[in-house]
Amino acid sequence: MEDKDRVYIFDTTLRDGEQSPGVSLNVNEKVEIARQLTRLGVDIIEAGFPVASPGDFAAVRAVAAEVKGVTVAALARANQNDIDRAWEAIKDAESPRIHTFIATSDIHLKHKLRMSREEVLEAAVAAVKYARRYTSDVEFSAEDAFRSDHDFLCRVLEAVINAGATTVNIPDTVGYATPQEFHDFIRDIFRKVPNIDRAVVSVHCHNDLGLAVANSLAAILAGARQVECTINGIGERAGNAALEEVVMALYTRQALFGKKTRIRTEEIYRTSKLVSKLTGMKVQPNKAIVGQNAFAHESGIHQDGVLKERSTYEIMNPQLIGRSLSTTIVLGKHSGRHAVRERLRSLGYELNEEELNRVFQRFKIVADRKKEITDEDLQAIIEEEILRIPETYQLAYLHISSGTTIVPTATVGLKKNGEELDEAACGDGPVDAIYKAIDKITGVPCTLVSYAIDALTAGKDALGEVTVRVRSDSTGRVYTGRGVSPDILEASAKAYINAINRMIYSDQGGDPGDRLKAEV
Ligand code: KIV
Ligand code: ZN
Repeated sequence: MEDKDRVYIFDTTLRDGEQSPGVSLNVNEKVEIARQLTRLGVDIIEAGFPVASPGDFAAVRAVAAEVKGVTVAALARANQNDIDRAWEAIKDAESPRIHTFIATSDIHLKHKLRMSREEVLEAAVAAVKYARRYTSDVEFSAEDAFRSDHDFLCRVLEAVINAGATTVNIPDTVGYATPQEFHDFIRDIFRKVPNIDRAVVSVHCHNDLGLAVANSLAAILAGARQVECTINGIGERAGNAALEEVVMALYTRQALFGKKTRIRTEEIYRTSKLVSKLTGMKVQPNKAIVGQNAFAHESGIHQDGVLKERSTYEIMNPQLIGRSLSTTIVLGKHSGRHAVRERLRSLGYELNEEELNRVFQRFKIVADRKKEITDEDLQAIIEEEILRIPETYQLAYLHISSGTTIVPTATVGLKKNGEELDEAACGDGPVDAIYKAIDKITGVPCTLVSYAIDALTAGKDALGEVTVRVRSDSTGRVYTGRGVSPDILEASAKAYINAINRMIYSDQGGDPGDRLKAEV
């Protein structure tokens, strides 16, 4: 593939995506996502914002050490301390990139930075020069570029390229642009910045008006060669451009765009599932490419057409994004360790002996209760056994009495340091009763913010997955908890206990995946 035909995919799921309200990933989860992004074939992984918190720093460092064949970027404001911290976190990466930014719009200069245009220009140049002392791969972002004075923006871009920036990123930070405008905005940058050919021009679009993908594609038509995006379009507020939509638009409309990416499209669906699971952010059913209904034909006329010839109502083959592969191979209680290991390998999980033992033991337990174990079930087991954080409390047992004519009552036993603690409570419903009983045992002051339940697979014996968000009443931070079981009440209890364990771990100084949101 010739370089001029390439669009570089810069994935910021672990940085901007993690800025989604309520999302918190721990180090293991971030590494797991980074591994999958590498399999997916993204060019750059933005692993985080190291100065934001010790947890973020540790996660960026772990990702940098883990993934190969991909560039790992760390975000830094335009000051030496941020850049030092970013470099410290990524210096062991095979291909490290420092991504430094400062706002260029008058709104941000006046109200946020309280700096003049000349001061911003100076800070941008100084930051790029400073970052270049560490690495030759330096990206500069002009935050709120789209609302910046165009001439000033062009002056900044020219100056940072002269200072050594190899990628210049043009964010529509507040998602204000429309496609035609953004196209012309990028086109004019190419016309006005004399040294623009010495840098890769990148775009970073937010989705406040639902136009992030359209704006990114318009920018590509105007000459942009890097797109910053996230899996499932997660991110600050309404999110970022969805990677899967940008990539599949370029692929499906290749004749129009004439551009290629390095993405292995058949990994898209799996990546979407993994990110949704670990972030706790559900994908809406009608979401393009990865939504549950994206390839479902409901009306009789459509079904008839597709049965006669798929292309009547389908512009993409679902297998192209790996959809039908995920549920075909089924394991059961007679499957051996070898079969499970091979299946895990094909899903991209390379486990050591001790990890495989844990997963296999759990597999046997689930297989006793459930006839067929699918890829989704296996992924849920991996998540529970391998990606979990230290468990202060574990579910020992659960008894519920519930019905239309009795007050729902739960008796719950939790294990803590080998000791069993029991409590009973009544509630508005069985889940409420369980959560009240757990609250009595743990004494952790917290509030349930949201509760969602999903069937991981089809069929009556499907594993139920419960995702909860729980706010700590003492710190105000929100923690995500997940629980999986063929019994949805057990899954509900596990999810709540998981969130409380994260809260406790965080209070002890651990990294539950929660971090103070940086002021980006
Ligand atoms: O939206 C934005 O402007 C950003 C920058 C830090 C690239 O996320
Ligand atoms: Zn952003």
